[in-house]
Amino acid sequence: MFSKKIVCTYIFSLIFLFSGIVFANGHGSAQPKKVGILLVAFGSSEASAQVSFDNIDIKVKKAFPNVPVRWSYTSHIIRKKLAKSGKFMDSPEIALAKMADEKFTHIAVQSLHTIRGAEFDDLSNTIDGFKLMGAFQDIQIGQPMLTSQKDIEKTVDAILASIPAKRNASEAVVLMGHGTHHPANAFYSALAYQIQLRDSKVFVGTVEGYPDLDLVQELLKKNNIKKTYLMPFMSVAGDHAKNDMAGDEDDSWKSVLSKAGYECEPILKGTAEYDSFASIWVSHLSESLSHFKQ
Ligand code: CO
Repeated sequence: MFSKKIVCTYIFSLIFLFSGIVFANGHGSAQPKKVGILLVAFGSSEASAQVSFDNIDIKVKKAFPNVPVRWSYTSHIIRKKLAKSGKFMDSPEIALAKMADEKFTHIAVQSLHTIRGAEFDDLSNTIDGFKLMGAFQDIQIGQPMLTSQKDIEKTVDAILASIPAKRNASEAVVLMGHGTHHPANAFYSALAYQIQLRDSKVFVGTVEGYPDLDLVQELLKKNNIKKTYLMPFMSVAGDHAKNDMAGDEDDSWKSVLSKAGYECEPILKGTAEYDSFASIWVSHLSESLSHFKQ
């Protein structure tokens, strides 16, 4: 007679073996190739930001018409805020789990961030986790806007192309980047330096990093500027652009610079609204997708 313990071990072994076969069928070469795109933005709870996301969505679907596109936001705070108003956005983790469940085999994850900061690091870690699980046959991550020297050059071109045509050469343009404690903050200075080589009256500042508004003010003074355009250097014209840059509160860039005697004209348009910037992210996505061609 078999003891109860041996029978149980036998049954468990069978279940284990069976689940192994199911797993192999689900993830082995027999599974049909299904390529998908996951776009990953920081997110925004401002309605004014949606036009940026829509533009990217259109550009991506136009460039890769047969590939399903999913969206996710990295910011937990934004997702929570949106959920309260009934709009539910996935985190990259949830979005990837859903794509695994939908039997996608090849995923191109495209970061829509501006620099390789903390959000990008977190996204990379998430993707490493999915790689470890063997959830997909291949998963690639596309770089944010500013990653290589070539990207900086393309970004400078895009910035110069996005400046309003009516601006005359004596007027300044101040870009408001986000800024971060992350070492990738140095990209803002690299960008500022390279813009200066092309147009000495275009300045880069950040809300939370270096260069800051004090430095921008010094440069405006040095250049005898009378009028300046204010433009967000963020993918969306969201909270920072509307309030910190163009708001009526005393500490907004518009208020501070107006008080210092500069005529200010804010432009509330995120970088993702311009095709010149959007094409940088699309080109990074295209690199990822090229890995899946056989
Ligand atoms: Co912020």
